[in-house]
Amino acid sequence: MPVSDAHRIQTSDLDTPPRLLLGPGPSNAHPRVLRALSNRQVGHLDPTFIHLMNEVQSLLKYAWQTENPVTIPVSGTGSAAMEAAVANTVESGDSVLVGCNGYFGERMVDMASRYGASVTRMEAAWGTAFDLETIRTAMESCRPQVLGLVHAETSTGARQPLEGVRDLCDEFDCLLIIDTVTSLGGVELFLDEWGVDAAYSGTQKCLSCPPGLGPLTLGPRVLERLEKRSRPVPNWYLDMSLVGKYWGSERTYHHTAPINMNYGLREALRLIAEEDLEARWERHRTNANLLWDGLADLGLSCHVDKEIRLPSLTTVRVPDGVDSGQVARTLLTEYNIEIAGGLGALAGKVWRVGLMGFNSRPENVMLLLAALKNVLHR
Ligand SMILES: Cc1ncc(COP(=O)(O)O)c(C=O)c1O
Repeated sequence: MPVSDAHRIQTSDLDTPPRLLLGPGPSNAHPRVLRALSNRQVGHLDPTFIHLMNEVQSLLKYAWQTENPVTIPVSGTGSAAMEAAVANTVESGDSVLVGCNGYFGERMVDMASRYGASVTRMEAAWGTAFDLETIRTAMESCRPQVLGLVHAETSTGARQPLEGVRDLCDEFDCLLIIDTVTSLGGVELFLDEWGVDAAYSGTQKCLSCPPGLGPLTLGPRVLERLEKRSRPVPNWYLDMSLVGKYWGSERTYHHTAPINMNYGLREALRLIAEEDLEARWERHRTNANLLWDGLADLGLSCHVDKEIRLPSLTTVRVPDGVDSGQVARTLLTEYNIEIAGGLGALAGKVWRVGLMGFNSRPENVMLLLAALKNVLHR
């Protein structure tokens, strides 16, 4: 049979534009991470790689401030890690309470429902956070086995304070899962001090690595519950009792780890340790303040109260009469700067500006403010 040429299209060398990614993610990877990605490969059970896996686990624990025994990068994006957190904590029929004050809480609701949970949505306006009284009232009414909260809601720019939530979870014998996709490596996180049982993240935000891995950490209470499950985790790929054997001491094959992505993550985490976690959080705060002051000088206001505003993601209110999409398109085409519009309840009402990891630098803030000023003054 003759070979068909139908899909042998003409292509040219890949030439991507030099975008400055100041949206909700991905952010630009650090040049050292990009270099690390291109290291030559070893096998996924090679002693070199096994050593690297240990380093990645250790450095992830530092970034999250946890001693959790299972602290690994899931092969997949942040949603895969989110699904792993849900699949390994929730059993069919469980009562699950999820904080819905933005887009990603809704995703957790969807996932927990698919795993057969009876899910209660605890709602709040987009851009606000839950206080302990609201959480307690919701827990009293649905008696959850699992509580899910988004620490850094990328759709709103709000930070969920976590102090005191553990005490409530202890009262109700409830596991606490938190989404740290837009906070890990950029915003204060003290998982063990806050008594978080499971947390997940993505590589493409404040870690300054391309998208592709989803850091996940599971604490002792989750592992205990995992052992006592009446049925196996209904997702083979994300079952941490299986994956854990590859990342743990047994090193038995489960799936082929994305080797080069792990090189990249290792470098990204090394950069955090070199900079020092507290200094890195402080850098994010300083540059966010620079942005917020500059926005105010342009007559623009932020959607979220300063007290709970994320330094990694700012939602900026779109002034009346301004086409938010047009502004974002002009910034991209004329200035090579990517920002994003609002999602869901905030669509058309805000721009989302990310200052994440490597991108959280004063020169980027100044460039964006100057470009925004030009575009808005047209
Ligand atoms: C808060 C939050 N959770 C989960 C996700 C899902 O991550 P991913 O898009 O990497 O699958 C995102 C992605 O933007 C996010 O911002």
